[in-house]
Amino acid sequence: MKTSLLFVSTGCKAVRTLTKSPVFSPVTALSRHQRIAVWRSSSTRSCEDDKSYYVTTPIFYVNASPHLGHLYSAVIADCVHRYKLLQGFNSKFATGTDEHGLKIQQAAEASGKDPLTFCTDVSERYKHLFDSCDISYTDYIRTTEQRHRAAVTHFWSVLADKGLIYKGSYEGWYSTQDESFLTESQVADALDSSGREIKVSLESGHKVEWMTEENYMFRLSAFRSQLLQWLRGNPRAIQPERFHHAVLQWLQEDLPDLSVSRQRSRLQWGVPVPADAEQTIYVWLDALVNYLTVAGYPDDHNKWWNTAHHIVGKDILKFHAIYWPAFLLGAGLPLPRTIYVHSHWTVGGKKMSKSLGNVVDPLERSQTFTTDGMRYFLLRQGVPDSDCDYTDDKVIKLLNAELADSLGGLLNRCTAPALNPAQVYPSFCPRCFPSEGGGRAAVEDHHMLEAVRSLQAAVEQHYESMNVYKALEAIAACVRKTNGFVQRHAPWKLDGRDSEDQRWLDTIIHVSLECLRIYGTLLQPIVPQISNKLLSRLGVRPDERRWADVNFLPRYRGMDCPFEGRALGPDCGVLFSRLESLNLDKRKTKTTKTRNSK
Ligand code: MSP
Repeated sequence: MKTSLLFVSTGCKAVRTLTKSPVFSPVTALSRHQRIAVWRSSSTRSCEDDKSYYVTTPIFYVNASPHLGHLYSAVIADCVHRYKLLQGFNSKFATGTDEHGLKIQQAAEASGKDPLTFCTDVSERYKHLFDSCDISYTDYIRTTEQRHRAAVTHFWSVLADKGLIYKGSYEGWYSTQDESFLTESQVADALDSSGREIKVSLESGHKVEWMTEENYMFRLSAFRSQLLQWLRGNPRAIQPERFHHAVLQWLQEDLPDLSVSRQRSRLQWGVPVPADAEQTIYVWLDALVNYLTVAGYPDDHNKWWNTAHHIVGKDILKFHAIYWPAFLLGAGLPLPRTIYVHSHWTVGGKKMSKSLGNVVDPLERSQTFTTDGMRYFLLRQGVPDSDCDYTDDKVIKLLNAELADSLGGLLNRCTAPALNPAQVYPSFCPRCFPSEGGGRAAVEDHHMLEAVRSLQAAVEQHYESMNVYKALEAIAACVRKTNGFVQRHAPWKLDGRDSEDQRWLDTIIHVSLECLRIYGTLLQPIVPQISNKLLSRLGVRPDERRWADVNFLPRYRGMDCPFEGRALGPDCGVLFSRLESLNLDKRKTKTTKTRNSK
């Protein structure tokens, strides 16, 4: 990742104070109880919310159609949500659309539609994409909804009542594309497409404009030391670690107060400032409150808000790790438990953008590569720490190797009538595969079992830290080992008429099906359809697919196996069909045509 992408804008410059700002100390604004509450670490939270979990995606701007990067944010959150449900949590998963602000106002104007119709059209496109890709959100929020406007208005009033908002004047750079304020050191000279000199944001490359405006300011500067204390006291609050450090680094600098409203004459598309119809609330303050709205704010929201986890792209880290915690501290509310940050998908080494013509359509790709195929690819290749370049070729190679050949091939081998004519989960023979060694098993076989036995804990650890790619790497390695086990003993060469051989053959299949059951269970958050197909084929009932049901190969440990002797489920065809380059060629032609026709 380029360092410039980590660059933070810490707000704007209040050059003139119109209304004398009341003397304010944010520390005294919070009761002692509240101060402790906002900083408590996860280990000191009350037990009452122990089985609740709340995960959010950022809400998506509706100025343009969704692209692959947006789907990525949603797939990560969906994976966490499904994983928590498997663990028996009562999990809430919120996503939705960010519909106010100058950028949307301008996009709606350009489209010739009224803003709400424009927002509804694009919001529906996001919803359709998410529904098509099995994003199992429990709440889809739109910032134009009444419940959200009420929450934003209330939140503003709380900050204002605590003396945290004052009327001032802002002068500085503003990027409409990023809806972000920038300081002098965060902008650079550049030329636009017609050769005119412009200023751009160093971080995003988007054009910035000079803005002088009377508006309301939030006392962000008052929260610097509390933010530092929060991060120092909660070293895992922002993950991966490098982003935690980056935020700490930003906080070494001054934290100017933040402009939190725009003049109504410039921005009509937003929530009006309570008691001042001439001002509209800054879109980021409005948008961030969506997380509270879904939790039930301003009504009873503690149950969910106490257990909130945000998934965000690295480009919006400062909004989530500085502005949002400061707003929450100001309002006397607990801070999110974790902010998980992910990096970006690039195409040809460049950030996807309409003007570069390198935007990857996630709906079209998931139709070509299947929904689960796309989910698997994004989570297997996406690394939180660094950007990843997308190519169709990589998708085809990965899915063919790991889903079609390795996992699908293993299932096919162990369930094919040639090796499993009775179509059952056959018996395990402890004499053939004694845990203490000997029998017909090789040393490598015991190692393979040990790897699969410890897989669940490893996957759990990686899911918890949002390093999903590591979980998938570990699963793929085990699948390869199980294939190696089958290959080593070549059960197709055993003589079914010999009872010893038959017992060994059954044992090989039993062990392999047990491995497949574990892979199917652990993969449910990633590829729900494939996992369902796999587990159904093995005859594993839906109520036997929870995290607690894993219990790998109990027969090896002298215990009963509930599946032994059970009929397999119906054969519903190959687990994952190999992707042919023919499909790709067809689609490539289509993409080229679309691009040329623009
Ligand atoms: N509306 C704000 C978020 C407000 S949350 C209170 C916003 N929207 S966005 O549509 O621009 O971005 C939404 C998410 O998509 C962000 O997490 C962003 O990082 C992610 N991505 C946008 N482009 C991306 C890639 N090219 N790759 C991966 N994720 C990317 O910001």
